[in-house]
Amino acid sequence: MNLAVIAGTGALDLFEVLDEFAVNSRYGSPSAPLSRIRIGERHAWFLPRHGKPHAIPPHAINYRANIDILRQSGVDRVVAVHAVGGIDPNLKPGSLVVPDQLIDYTWGRAHTFSDSADDSLAHIEFAEPFSGSTRMALLSAARKAGISVHQSGCYAVTQGPRLETTAEIARLAADGCTLVGMTAMPEAALAREAGLDYASLSVVANPAAGVTDQVISLEEIHRVLGAAMLEVGRLLRDGAGELA
Ligand code: HPA
Repeated sequence: MNLAVIAGTGALDLFEVLDEFAVNSRYGSPSAPLSRIRIGERHAWFLPRHGKPHAIPPHAINYRANIDILRQSGVDRVVAVHAVGGIDPNLKPGSLVVPDQLIDYTWGRAHTFSDSADDSLAHIEFAEPFSGSTRMALLSAARKAGISVHQSGCYAVTQGPRLETTAEIARLAADGCTLVGMTAMPEAALAREAGLDYASLSVVANPAAGVTDQVISLEEIHRVLGAAMLEVGRLLRDGAGELA
């Protein structure tokens, strides 16, 4: 497969960069130039979702340009790394999740390539929002690397950039969500529109609001992500043969 890794918060320096390409999109500027990286014995593409350095907030990311440049580059599989909060109390900080479902609570984001009468109209099938084959490849990669991951979960995609209220998290839990982040949508739907097999490797940075009586601290989020992203790097490197 022609693999791309879209990296989230805390994942800028996971891989050796071989080369960089500025790819233009008719949807505007992507978050960053596209990098060619070495990942284990394989090569892959790498795109930092929030830019390099990390500056673009979740609602202002040009998701369409990002997916468009991957499509133009011949990518057919995307592993999207996401920092999330744990709603399910079993999802402790530092744990990894390969979610199988999502609920989209975002608004006002440019969320489709079918945007005008001039574009082809794609009512994509989205019952399973993440690619089954890429999820299975991630689970095999984790087994190869000897890293334990939660094999399913429902990702609530919130607008951000603020974190949620305790009542909002209670509502998301009642809706069936087990983790919460700000960037899986419209990314996953655009990838489906573009014909890319897309799955999320979610990294739990903190218990979501009100799940414990601890106040969420940004310093703590960055500390947890710093350690967990090393595991993400090892999973992708040791499991590169399963993914790329
Ligand atoms: N909520 C939403 N997004 C997040 C969180 C959270 O608690 N932690 C990391 N990304």
